[in-house]
Amino acid sequence: MMDAQQYATAMWQTPPRNLTIATDAVHVWRVDIPALLGRVPRLEATLSATERARAARFRFLEHRTRFIVTHGVLRDILGRYLDIPAAQLELTTNAYGKPILVAPEHAWLQFNLSHSGDLILFAITRDRPVGIDVEQLIPPDNFTRLVEQFFSPNEYAALLALPEEKRAAAFFAGWTRKEAYVKALGMGVSLPLDQFDVIMDPDAPARLLADRRHPQYPETWTLLSFIPAPGYTAALAVEILHPTMTFYHWYPRI
Ligand SMILES: CC(C)(COP(=O)(O)OP(=O)(O)OC[C@H]1O[C@@H](n2cnc3c(N)ncnc32)[C@H](O)[C@@H]1OP(=O)(O)O)[C@@H](O)C(=O)NCCC(=O)NCCS
Repeated sequence: MMDAQQYATAMWQTPPRNLTIATDAVHVWRVDIPALLGRVPRLEATLSATERARAARFRFLEHRTRFIVTHGVLRDILGRYLDIPAAQLELTTNAYGKPILVAPEHAWLQFNLSHSGDLILFAITRDRPVGIDVEQLIPPDNFTRLVEQFFSPNEYAALLALPEEKRAAAFFAGWTRKEAYVKALGMGVSLPLDQFDVIMDPDAPARLLADRRHPQYPETWTLLSFIPAPGYTAALAVEILHPTMTFYHWYPRI
């Protein structure tokens, strides 16, 4: 049995030089922000004027740096699949803020990203909606209010049915699974969070149990929980029934 540290380290591979992605595949990329602080100017140079303006609006250097690293690395990753220089990619967002590629010929490349603490995760698919969420395991002060506000009655009941010592882990499992799903659908939290149920038990395989707006989705969607690094949990939602998962550690290309 591997511990969390080994598990987190063992699964992250070095990406091949020429990247391709199949329709049943999900590629997850991980970035550790502190390791990249020396790269910030080079990553910033690839951002669009709009992204640079957005970066400049952050009041705290830490937030500005995280934004630059996130969007610089996102451009690099997308550029690897499309074989286009990072700075030449055109990105926009949908009506709810989900980043997407502008060019119709690039629309097959679907992606989503999440950041928490020192980590950034990206999920990439071909033509399949995907969402990802990572959370650093710092229990919130307003735990009870968040549970009441964000989980469905079924999820709330499932959480309370768990032994007390498992509830904090169940909160993060449920939270990341729900976030990943709403992010995959592209609507963020404008999607009513009580309209669908996920498995709350952190030790059970993640699954979409019901979506009252889309009753057939549990048959076609996969949720997956994983530990991206010690002290964090992450979840992914994708409209592929049995996705082939690959995990890449992002390093700058020389
Ligand atoms: C914005 C939101 C999509 C994710 O926010 P978050 O969990 O705080 O932050 P994450 O780091 O996981 O994700 C942020 C990234 O998601 C992407 N994103 C933004 N809007 C999105 C949307 N509608 N759909 C998918 N992805 C979106 C962006 O890339 C964003 O990063 P960027 O601003 O650097 O570009 C949204 O779900 C939200 O506001 N969440 C707040 C938390 C909440 O209420 N959760 C309840 C869940 S149980």
